Amino acid sequence: MAKPKRRYVCSSCGGVTTRWQGQCADCGEWNTLSEEAPQTVFSTKHDLSSGGRPIRFTPLDAPGEVPKRRASGLAEFDRALGGGLVPGSAILLGGDPGIGKSTLLLQAAAHIANSGSSAVYVSGEEAAGQVRLRAERLGLSKAPIQLASATSVRDILTTLGMMDAPTLLVIDSIQTMHSDTIEGAPGTVSQVRGCAFELIRYAKENDVTLILVGHVTKDGNIAGPRVLEHMVDVVMSFEGERSHQYRILRSLKNRFGPVDEIGVFAMEGAGLAEVGNPSMLFLSGREEAMAGSAVFAAMEGTRPVLIEIQALIVRLQSGATPRRAVVGWDSGRMAMLLAVLEARCGLNFSSAEVYLNVAGGYRLADPAADLAVAAALVSALGDRPLPKNTVWFGEVSLAGEIRPVAHSSIRQRESAKLGFGRAYGPVATTKPEKGLEFTGMSMLPNLVDRILGDA
Ligand code: TYD
Ligand code: MG
Repeated sequence: MAKPKRRYVCSSCGGVTTRWQGQCADCGEWNTLSEEAPQTVFSTKHDLSSGGRPIRFTPLDAPGEVPKRRASGLAEFDRALGGGLVPGSAILLGGDPGIGKSTLLLQAAAHIANSGSSAVYVSGEEAAGQVRLRAERLGLSKAPIQLASATSVRDILTTLGMMDAPTLLVIDSIQTMHSDTIEGAPGTVSQVRGCAFELIRYAKENDVTLILVGHVTKDGNIAGPRVLEHMVDVVMSFEGERSHQYRILRSLKNRFGPVDEIGVFAMEGAGLAEVGNPSMLFLSGREEAMAGSAVFAAMEGTRPVLIEIQALIVRLQSGATPRRAVVGWDSGRMAMLLAVLEARCGLNFSSAEVYLNVAGGYRLADPAADLAVAAALVSALGDRPLPKNTVWFGEVSLAGEIRPVAHSSIRQRESAKLGFGRAYGPVATTKPEKGLEFTGMSMLPNLVDRILGDA
């Protein structure tokens, strides 16, 4: 028999090659290939057209069970999930180390256990004593959670098979789990995939909501194969700057609900507190108007949030290449906006360093941020503070047009509610709201004239 060939598997896309390479030929990621034990293939010519059991087809409108969602006890968590936990579903929760994943899930498990359902929390990272200490700190030591420290999927599934299926099963984390039917160390692609497969099968068969914690690589992807993201029903990421208090729970994929809802939490001394009304969080609360600062009336899912955007422009004397740095927004998008401001409005950023920061460690995803970013950049460039009580929203095209965006009336209503007196946005579609003066602008040069006006 021929010696089985070596195989190298990409931890990002799951692609397989027979030779090690620095870059994965399938997805183009660097340093993601690692050697794994060859897999046995019985026969490629195996005939699958007989010997199976017949399956039953049903019409789409067949009366069936609509999965009933269960509240996690954390309204912000439920909101990000699209209305609570779905039985028989698998959720992958990713996030930087130390961001608060274990804390969030322990709190959710405690709520479920306290409400009379059963919750199992398996930690492969911490000893049971460590989890208990955390529970004490959270004031949850009395919650009847079934807690275990284990890493063998066989042990976990055997134990679960001997008891009533829990409502919630938390596995913290999938990278620490291992299955003795698969070769390789915990955390390798085939282990992660194999363990997840077995756990998800258990969850589907027993109507258990399974939450898998997933580690995140330094560029923000969930470690392990992309395949993992395909296997689960919901992918969520827990985001925030560790130096800031605020944490955003975002769903990136959701088979049962919308993907643009977020949950907002604050990390406090006794765990994660829910932030039901996040509008004000990302404003700096300064008294003086300063050049380079603009307030963006953003939408996160169905929720309006006001966010301060800060720009700083430093003119360089020498011919050195100027730096451009962005925190909390897409740097490609900023480069585009700078190019549009140069090409369509005649401004010159070429010999200046440009820094952009979104206050509060927030990461902007709403495309309507363009206009607010442009306002901050122009204000910084001309050293002209923007009026303090104004908000901005709108998308900017490459031609320099200010394009309409969704939910403009919700944005305006929230701004008015928080005491802002004026909004600038796209001309079309926008209805003025009571208590707020609205000025529509159609082209980016309108914005520049307005800010640099009589300069
Ligand atoms: P943790 O849930 O362990 O993060 P993860 O599982 O994502 O790695 O959270 C760890 C951080 O949270 C740690 O730096 C301390 C902080 N923390 C608090 O500020 N308050 C608390 O009540 C708890 C439990 C943790
Ligand atoms: Mg943890």
